[in-house]
Amino acid sequence: MVNFNEKLASYAAFTEAEMKKYNQQTPESAYQKDLIDVMNYSLEAGGKRIRPALVYAFCEACGGDWKKAAAPACAIEMIHTFSLIHDDLPAMDNDDFRRGRLSCHKAFGEAMAILAGDALSVLPFGIIADDNNLSDGQKIRIISRLAKAVGRDGMIGGQVIDMENEERTDVDESNLRNMYRRKTGELIAVSCMMGCICAGADDETVNAAGEYGYRLGLAFQIVDDILDVVSTSEELGKPVGSDAEENKTTFVTLFGVEGAQKAADKVTKEAAECLEKFGNNEFLQELTEMLLKRKN
Ligand code: IPE
Ligand code: IPE
Ligand code: MG
Ligand code: MG
Ligand code: MG
Repeated sequence: MVNFNEKLASYAAFTEAEMKKYNQQTPESAYQKDLIDVMNYSLEAGGKRIRPALVYAFCEACGGDWKKAAAPACAIEMIHTFSLIHDDLPAMDNDDFRRGRLSCHKAFGEAMAILAGDALSVLPFGIIADDNNLSDGQKIRIISRLAKAVGRDGMIGGQVIDMENEERTDVDESNLRNMYRRKTGELIAVSCMMGCICAGADDETVNAAGEYGYRLGLAFQIVDDILDVVSTSEELGKPVGSDAEENKTTFVTLFGVEGAQKAADKVTKEAAECLEKFGNNEFLQELTEMLLKRKN
């Protein structure tokens, strides 16, 4: 197999080139230059591009041609970027840096950041609907899963629980697991599921990919909580200590850094076991391990 890092980099480069095309200025959208520039500011800032990599890797693991999964891969990265823009707003986590640069509202003001986030939440559904690589049936399966993952019962619902928890003193592990599954797990799980659908996989396979994704997502958020305590803002490209400042209960406040790390190790192992149904795909195994050990 091509070197893991090379493959990850080529997935990211392809995603970035495709996203640029999807959000380029056309004669019809010329009057919206400011909005397009703000959307691109956050899209082009970098980031690990993990969710698109999961789309492509599951497409390949199910025997598909990964480049044909460009639409859902870019769609999920745009939705993730929208979630970050809104997450950083003063009304939410109130963070001034993201992906190594000023957060969107610091660079362009709150109103523009809200609107750029809004635009990045709906553009993806149009991109999938208009795609030429997917059949109508595939598009409907993808849009249905994606809408659930993003919305009331998914990422947005999880963000609501996160906000409400700031006012509570009784947040326990089961609350956190539910909140993490939604705010972080849903977008990661649906990335895996959409990749399978692009390859024409059946629902049983799609759901199995989701089971992997929910576990990976839980591990991912626990590691994010740990990094907020042990890392530096230079390394992370976003502020550290943000969770304590906003009075968040996290796996670290409940179990300490070591306890949180143990929990992340355990659920990462469970995620890796889910890959058996995907021939223990080598790239996905390495990605699972890498995300546990990541430093940013
Ligand atoms: C940050 O996600 C938000 C969480 C769900 C923890 P990432 O760590 O994937 O952020 P980028 O895309 O690399 O900036
Ligand atoms: C991530 O939660 C969840 C979403 C952005 C949807 P965090 O608030 O922990 O993410 P970071 O640490 O700001 O990236
Ligand atoms: Mg948050
Ligand atoms: Mg945050
Ligand atoms: Mg965090």
